[in-house]
Amino acid sequence: MFNTTFYVRRLHSLCGLLCLGMVLFEHIFTNSMAMGGPAALNGALGMMELIPKPIFLGLEIGAIAVPLLFHAIYGVYIALQANNNPGRYGYVRNWSFALQRWTAWYLVAFLIWHIGYLRLYTKGVTGTPISYELLQNLFTTSPITTILYILGMFAAIFHFCNGITTFCMTWGITKGPRSQNVVSILSMCLCAALCLVTLAFMGSYFI
Ligand code: HEM
Repeated sequence: MFNTTFYVRRLHSLCGLLCLGMVLFEHIFTNSMAMGGPAALNGALGMMELIPKPIFLGLEIGAIAVPLLFHAIYGVYIALQANNNPGRYGYVRNWSFALQRWTAWYLVAFLIWHIGYLRLYTKGVTGTPISYELLQNLFTTSPITTILYILGMFAAIFHFCNGITTFCMTWGITKGPRSQNVVSILSMCLCAALCLVTLAFMGSYFI
């Protein structure tokens, strides 16, 4: 019999790792240009403006909005069914499982705010281009915004990196405890490295 839940769950998993993973890397790469100053970041943002508008919009909808909406909505459904018990058992795996869900909840709120304010309202409604100056003004005038943005990036990075470990288990890539531990350690090293890059480019707005 055709098991719909099985295939929807696999699609959810692929969407998270491939589509959203690529968006996360692109985002960190572009934003890290802020460390080179206004010309470097504005240049990187300007490169994207060179893509013809209909193609760019098609990519934003097809490669970001649709996978994100599917992953987020089905993810909320999965998270609502989750039984978090880190306090009771305290194993690293249980904490990772709970953190995967808690970061998902934070990401729902953060991404609605982030995409709603910067992409839909600022760029879409008012027609103001996103630039180094705009971001610097946003962060330096509000420490709370800066903290919430750093937490949003940390949540997305942890959620993605821990997701690499669970993805490898789900798809049968890591079958035994040894290979699962190796992937888990490597993905947490990637998590630490990406968090440090985030702190570096966010900090560069204040220098
Ligand atoms: C917008 C809010 C989001 C929600 C509600 C959400 C929810 C979830 C949930 C509940 C899981 C666990 C699935 C399971 O145990 O089978 C999960 C896995 C995953 N998520 Fe998300 N997520 C969100 C955003 C993101 C983002 C932005 C990324 C990438 C940067 C991402 C990447 C992943 C990956 C790679 C997995 C692991 C897939 C697997 O285990 O096979 N998610 N997500």
